Amino acid sequence: MRRALRGAVLGFTGDPFLAEDPAATLHITEDTLVVLEDGLIAEVAPYDPARARGLEVVHYPDALICPGFIDCHVHYPQTQMIGAFGEQLLDWLNTYTFPAEQDYADPAHAAEAARVFLAELLRNGTTTAAVYCTVHPQSVEAFFAESHRLNTRMIAGKVLMDRNAPDALLDTAERGYAESKALIERWHGTGRQLYAITPRFAPTSSPAQLAAAARLWREHPGTYLQTHLSENKAEIAWVRELFPEAGGYLDVYHRAGLTGRRAIFGHAVHLSEAEFGCCHRTGSALAHCPTSNLFLGSGLFRLFDAKRRDRPVCVGLGTDLGAGTSFSQLRTLGEAYKVARARGGRLTAAHGFWLATAGAAEALDLTGRIGRVAPGHEADLAVLDLKATPLVEYRLRHARDWAERLFVLMTLGDDRAVRATWVAGIPRYRREGAGA
Ligand code: GUN
Ligand code: ZN
Repeated sequence: MRRALRGAVLGFTGDPFLAEDPAATLHITEDTLVVLEDGLIAEVAPYDPARARGLEVVHYPDALICPGFIDCHVHYPQTQMIGAFGEQLLDWLNTYTFPAEQDYADPAHAAEAARVFLAELLRNGTTTAAVYCTVHPQSVEAFFAESHRLNTRMIAGKVLMDRNAPDALLDTAERGYAESKALIERWHGTGRQLYAITPRFAPTSSPAQLAAAARLWREHPGTYLQTHLSENKAEIAWVRELFPEAGGYLDVYHRAGLTGRRAIFGHAVHLSEAEFGCCHRTGSALAHCPTSNLFLGSGLFRLFDAKRRDRPVCVGLGTDLGAGTSFSQLRTLGEAYKVARARGGRLTAAHGFWLATAGAAEALDLTGRIGRVAPGHEADLAVLDLKATPLVEYRLRHARDWAERLFVLMTLGDDRAVRATWVAGIPRYRREGAGA
């Protein structure tokens, strides 16, 4: 039996960052039928009983049907260490992160963490993420196995590190290459899984390892390249010492052959104009991670500079757990708004929801497949609850229009605002006590 969802649906007429009137790009259609077939969205049309005949219809009143959220930067092994106190990036890595990641030599530990992490993503309406595993191939195996079981579209990869980390977390240029290649052969394109070659960041990879990563990326078209970039001032100074010949942090990656379409750089808090220009020209994407940048005191990302209309850079939203503090894209957007405000910018609901859905799909080169509720797209959906809590219900009764409702959800919303999450046409999460 074909299935359908009935309710209000979120759409866009274009990229709000490029529009004269950003708010006008947000397009909500009331009482709509979203028909699903074979894991895809077959039809999106005004509800009428004749159209619904013969379909199994799930009705979501007082809700908004959105594309599943897309998280462009997150570390599943760090779920066990969210909220680690008191350090900036480099000390935080040494004190908390590297000890935690050593646990992933154990496949059973990795399997449990992957289960917890993916369940938490779905509880928050997130259906696609670009995920860092650890240096251990078994951490990647555990992650993809669970994602494949759930049939979620995930991008993930083995971290590459051959220096400046504890011995237990180091590979070598050759071993990192060989292990990543074997994982690509096993997982890239298996069901909905996609592989990201994942040198952690320039300080933990030798020039030889960066070169091997670039070779692997070239040899496997369609794979991704993810790493960290210009997150913290001390990190940037260290990169300058380690790579004195490079013109800057991004230039380390650019010279190594690691910029281009399907390259995703996390953070990019302290980029120069020349570096934004390089991202624009090469099609490299940035992941904006506001809760993490605030938590580690890294700085305030220049979102509206990144998206400048004469040389726009692709930007998606990232939670960056465990330096990030929430799985919720709504909460992450609430912090993105505050970061933009601190820089004098005004992040509307149109901007925000774009960054978490269609804009993120563009950043991940998945336009046409995910990120929109539109025919032919994969049926990954997040159903937001306009009565999620007594406060949300009360506040939204006083909202004038959809833009205000969505903006209030960016401010007040969290996992409780997700009534249901659908993955490839199957309801995979339903909030206890919520209708439908
Ligand atoms: N830079 C290098 N590794 C990491 C990491 O795990 N988290 C964050 N936030 N930044 C990094
Ligand atoms: Zn990160």
